[in-house]
Amino acid sequence: MCGIVGYAGGGGAREVLLRGLKSLEYRGYDSAGLALCGDRLHLLKDAGRVADLEVRIEHMTEAGTGIGHTRWATHGVPSQINAHPHTDCTRKVAVIHNGIIENFMELKSELMKGGHKFKSDTDTEVIPHMIEEELNKQQGMMDAFRKVVNKLEGSYAILAIIEGKNEIYFARKHSPLVIGLGRGENFLASDVIAFLPHTRCAVFVKDGDIGWVNSEKIYVEADGNKVERPFTNIEWSAEDAMKGGYPHFMLKEIYEQPDAVANTLLDARIEQLATELGHLKELEIVAAGTSYHAGLAFMYASDLKTRLLVSSEFRALYKGGDVLAISQSGETADTLQAVRQVRAVNGGKVFGLVNVNGSTLTRLADQTVYTHAGPEIGVAATKTFTSQLAVLYGIDAELKGKKIPTFDIESALRLNGEMKKLSIDMSRRQGIFYIGRGPSSVTAREGALKMKELAYIQAEAYEGGELKHGPLALIEEGVPVVAVCPNDIHRKKMIGSIEEVKARGGVPVVFGEAGDKELKAISDRFYGLPATDPFYSPLTYVVPLQLLAYHTAVLLGWDPDKPRNLAKSVTVE
Ligand code: F6R
Repeated sequence: MCGIVGYAGGGGAREVLLRGLKSLEYRGYDSAGLALCGDRLHLLKDAGRVADLEVRIEHMTEAGTGIGHTRWATHGVPSQINAHPHTDCTRKVAVIHNGIIENFMELKSELMKGGHKFKSDTDTEVIPHMIEEELNKQQGMMDAFRKVVNKLEGSYAILAIIEGKNEIYFARKHSPLVIGLGRGENFLASDVIAFLPHTRCAVFVKDGDIGWVNSEKIYVEADGNKVERPFTNIEWSAEDAMKGGYPHFMLKEIYEQPDAVANTLLDARIEQLATELGHLKELEIVAAGTSYHAGLAFMYASDLKTRLLVSSEFRALYKGGDVLAISQSGETADTLQAVRQVRAVNGGKVFGLVNVNGSTLTRLADQTVYTHAGPEIGVAATKTFTSQLAVLYGIDAELKGKKIPTFDIESALRLNGEMKKLSIDMSRRQGIFYIGRGPSSVTAREGALKMKELAYIQAEAYEGGELKHGPLALIEEGVPVVAVCPNDIHRKKMIGSIEEVKARGGVPVVFGEAGDKELKAISDRFYGLPATDPFYSPLTYVVPLQLLAYHTAVLLGWDPDKPRNLAKSVTVE
């Protein structure tokens, strides 16, 4: 999703913005650009990578103030013209924006009638033209900016600069925006990672806030009145966000899982949330993608009466009740919209399970419990998934009066070498099936999702019992079927499913408990994992499937940290 960064300091804006943009690359983008503020505006933008701008940036004038943007196309194709920043007719105002201006068509036709010339197909370009229009009415930039923002409908984090002024004007509604406070310099960004090398002191901008920053001061107002927003000390270091010697963030993050899970399980809020949930008769769970899989794993483990809804379908299916919203980023638009729906119909209490502190979901929820996975840079969720499972299994254990479980992720990681070897075979396949029963059906789904999003191989997951209801028609000579088969009550039936696959010439790739002779005998591709609580097996069994997807992607020459067409934080519905 789009990333934004702004810098107001004494000098060096070029480098700060470039570095900030690089740190935001993980959000996913198709074009990038920046504007520097001097006696006139200097603009550089294009479709493609931030690295492509780097070579050209040296020819730009140095400045103390500027804004930068990575764009993930929503209105208008990825191109130089559609890349941000966008300017007005006079090229005095430059604007970057994350989100969608829903009423841009009306605003644009009004502006065009007034003689404004548009260069791009974006919704964003209306903003600089509207500012120009207001400035023509002989008022200051802040007054003009406020009037413009009040006319916008939709979601936005906006930064605007005007030539000759070392100030950055900002506004936020339903898109993340945070201020970084430095000495003689201030920052604005959609993610703290963009300014972590400079400061850890952050102010999270709230929905509806409008204001400005310069090198010395910040000003924030809400509903036309000046407001003070609290400072937060960000614990993540810039180093946390770097690769730490691994070739990719994703591999580093897979290996961080033992620590991420252990840290997460230390959080006392798990116990508090368990107590709260224990009082409920029913619980609706809402989430998207991998977070949805975490919700599904909880349903298999828990005795609570739960219902799980995909965020984007929530509005159509929600009938009221207390809700647990699960989201790594806390910024997924579909999930936030679901939570707003709960609020709109006064449906019940909202509990959040979130990784990113200070994110929008943490502010919308009545009560939040955090995963302590640290920043996840790889677009595909790995350590945040197992950390979500840790919280959910921790809650389950509390409710059942069981000991909080421990998870032997290290043993699962020891399969790395074998997964690398297996990836040679997988990389040659057109399609792969994943099957599991009970909790392992979730492991199968998550394994298949990782394979398709990273290696771009068609990977389909089914409950083992569903094979005979259709997918078996596709199993023929040489089709690989990854079978997740821990030592639980479903094992016998899974062996039946594996035999069905073999009978049709399919190639079972079996993950089961180390030392399981029967499984070893039915497949020459058997991989042993440590014994686990049968209800909590997805937390360890998913690890080799993450590694398999990772190695297959790398072998095929794809970048596992930045899968095509995908974004880390999906902030549009
Ligand atoms: C898959 C993946 C996505 C996210 C989904 C929800 O690897 O990362 O499917 O899980 O976009 O994101 P969050 O959890 O941030 O709400």
